[in-house]
Amino acid sequence: MVSIRDLEKKEIESYLAEAAKMEKLLNRPKSELLKGKVIASMFFEPSTRTNMSFQAAAKRLGAKIMTFYPGTSSTAKGETLGDTIRMIDGYVDAIVLRHPSEGAARFASDLALHPVINAGDGGNQHPTQTLLDLYTIKKLKGKISGLKVALLGDLKHARTMRSLLFGLAMFGAKVTLISPPALRMDEDVLAEVKEKFGAIPKQTSEMSLAGFDVLYVCRIQKERFSDPMEAERMQKDFRVDLEALKSANKNLAILHPLPKVDEIPPEVDFDPRAKYFEQAKNGVPVRMAVLYKAIKG
Ligand code: CP
Repeated sequence: MVSIRDLEKKEIESYLAEAAKMEKLLNRPKSELLKGKVIASMFFEPSTRTNMSFQAAAKRLGAKIMTFYPGTSSTAKGETLGDTIRMIDGYVDAIVLRHPSEGAARFASDLALHPVINAGDGGNQHPTQTLLDLYTIKKLKGKISGLKVALLGDLKHARTMRSLLFGLAMFGAKVTLISPPALRMDEDVLAEVKEKFGAIPKQTSEMSLAGFDVLYVCRIQKERFSDPMEAERMQKDFRVDLEALKSANKNLAILHPLPKVDEIPPEVDFDPRAKYFEQAKNGVPVRMAVLYKAIKG
């Protein structure tokens, strides 16, 4: 599980179906589907949701999970990622890896004998986030095909948006991309969805939210800017507050991969259209499905 690009539509559908089964298991006593298995959780970048939901998923399946801390490991002495992966691969049945370098998960999966699950590699891909996004949209709306979906925010740096555009295009959603001109989706991603799925997303810098079924917001990725003040300026113009939502559909679903900072103010959390906490909760059954399929096939 390195990139959403590696998956065919029927494989994604199979993950979504497996996640629905896993969700039912959550209300029962702890499952033992992965009893005796050991999983390594290796996060070289901060994370709340991905890290904790993978840990919860492993525990709910009866697996043991070991956490690798880069700051107190031999990484701090200069050990390479390649050597670290080779070592840990010898200890466990699967590796969950988040790393700031684009391509780190692919590199690790080429070295490891056990499955490597990409939990985010720089600004590149976040495939399990895309699976949980598609799962959430399907659960809320009953379908993905034909839905009018707006992706809003930092479309240049957010790996979640690149992965999600690919998934939405594959499933036939009608996507509009809303961003500051300097933070548009990269042309190579647009060319890819056009070539593979015939998808031509509309691109705009207008903050008009009328007519959408789903609004997927992401924060301006300040940490990927050389000038953080510039990021803050852009964030102000692309804020989804109650005023901006006045023209939006009554049955709009507002999603966000989280963490959110200023792009959605706290008052929106109480709007019934805000579904991002429910979305984050879906990370557990989706990651249970990912771990189960990775280890048991
Ligand atoms: N959505 C997401 O990847 O959140 P974390 O960075 O907290 O894992």
